[in-house]
Amino acid sequence: MDKPVPSARPPRIELRAIAKHFGRGETRVDALPDVTLTVRAGEVVGLRGTSGCGKSTLLNTIGCVTEPTSGWMQLDGEPIYDGRYLRRDLRRLRLTKIGFIFQTHNLLPILNATENIAEAMELAGSGHTDARKRAETLLDYFDMHQMRAYPSQLSGGMAQRVAIARAIANDPHILTST
Ligand SMILES: Nc1ncnc2c1ncn2[C@@H]1O[C@H](COP(=O)(O)OP(=O)(O)OP(=O)(O)O)[C@@H](O)[C@H]1O
Ligand SMILES: [Mg+2]
Repeated sequence: MDKPVPSARPPRIELRAIAKHFGRGETRVDALPDVTLTVRAGEVVGLRGTSGCGKSTLLNTIGCVTEPTSGWMQLDGEPIYDGRYLRRDLRRLRLTKIGFIFQTHNLLPILNATENIAEAMELAGSGHTDARKRAETLLDYFDMHQMRAYPSQLSGGMAQRVAIARAIANDPHILTST
């Protein structure tokens, strides 16, 4: 029998023995024990566990928001962490590779719905007109027709849809939702 052909595409997320502790001495908290995890393109992974078990810490680590204490991490085949961050431009990495959906939507209050999405695209390098056009297309896709409304004028569900549109606006390969 033929051997299975390995997938040409590297996993989207690959963690090996990723650990994170906060604090030191008596107040030290081991938030992540050595976590080894592989997530491939198209996979949807849910995290379940008791409060304080490390779910958010894990997602923040994958999102390069929280620096691990040790271990190895690769995103899209690119080594990101190996005892230290291997890339300097983590901000750019977050903008282009990872979409974040927060439990509380975290929209910018001084920007309207369209601008909240377009801003994320412009920060990643899109032109103003293209960004606005795509923002409107995404809002339309999510049936969010109050495109000029500010976050304070939106219902919870509407704000969350804007936040989801913003998270996918730059076509990230990894989407995290807390
Ligand atoms: N910035 C921090 N400083 C110190 N300890 C932290 C910090 N962030 C998280 N922790 C600790 O790390 C552990 C894991 O927290 P985390 O927020 O990842 O849990 P969680 O699984 O997301 O919980 P929940 O279901 O309540 O959201 C907890 O003991 C928490 O107190
Ligand atoms: Mg949490």
